[in-house]
Amino acid sequence: MRNLLSSVAVSVLLATAAIAAEPVPADLRETAQEIFKPLPSTIPSVRDNKITPEKIALGKALFFDPRVSASGVFSCNSCHNLGTGGDDNLETSIGHGWQKGRRNSPTVFNLVFNVAQFWDGRAEDLKAQAKGPVQAGVEMANTPDNVVAALKSMPDYVTWFKAAFPDEADPVTFDNFAKAIEAFEATLVTPAPFDAFLNGDDGALTTEAKQGLALFMDKGCASCHAGINVGGEGYYPFGF
Ligand code: HEC
Ligand code: HEC
Repeated sequence: MRNLLSSVAVSVLLATAAIAAEPVPADLRETAQEIFKPLPSTIPSVRDNKITPEKIALGKALFFDPRVSASGVFSCNSCHNLGTGGDDNLETSIGHGWQKGRRNSPTVFNLVFNVAQFWDGRAEDLKAQAKGPVQAGVEMANTPDNVVAALKSMPDYVTWFKAAFPDEADPVTFDNFAKAIEAFEATLVTPAPFDAFLNGDDGALTTEAKQGLALFMDKGCASCHAGINVGGEGYYPFGF
């Protein structure tokens, strides 16, 4: 798949060079607005999980904490590194016991807008998703009971869960762990110059980028790479 993608990328570059002199279509933005949607610059809301600053702070701590894995070595950030594009830049991820998983880790940026989670869409939202990696043998290899016990043994976490779920008598639960991570992930939204262009700012993209955008739509890339995330709108269960 990667090789295929590189050859796709090379042909796009060649094609771009060949049309470099083409004028930018006058209706470029209108056409693009029919296919793509700009990312918002505010935190989106998610279903059944009110997002509060306390929940975001707790979710952030959990995301970076290797103590939720059985070995104490892997955090969510090990494979979804926020400093390197929200993934690990490996073909397939390395997890518990240094095992290699079967799948490539997707970026966690802007994933709150995907129609479902995982390559095959088996988790319907980020709450459902966050429970997966903790228990996966090749990822964190832990159990919900162990995660909750580990979190309850740390007084700071008990305080943070109380602040994030103030109405609950026993807030340190696996469900709330997942909700807090979902709240943090909802903040990982990265509006870019492309979004500014969609919103009406002509100067946001260079002429070359505008030509590339015209080509991207013209060549049919947008039949799969469309919508708010320029992709993430369908399921890809083939061969992974
Ligand atoms: C050992 C590496 C590893 C760790 C640790 C890990 N992940 Fe993942 N993550 C992956 C891989 C690989 C996939 C793709 C799996 C699939 O599609 O079946 C994935 C998929 C996801 C997705 C779905 C994204 C999409 O676009 O479909 C989300 C969300 C996610 N992980 C969040 C987390 C969170 C939250 C944690 C910590 C609780 C975590 N991950 C820990 C490797 C990892
Ligand atoms: C039939 C659907 C389809 C079409 C058409 C398509 N893609 Fe893709 N593209 C995908 C899928 C699925 C992936 C993710 C697969 C993977 O990473 O292994 C992907 C991944 C990519 C990636 C890597 C994204 C990342 O986050 O790693 C780039 C870049 C890309 N495509 C560019 C293009 C370009 C440029 C075109 C047009 C010349 C194009 N694609 C046409 C389905 C498509």
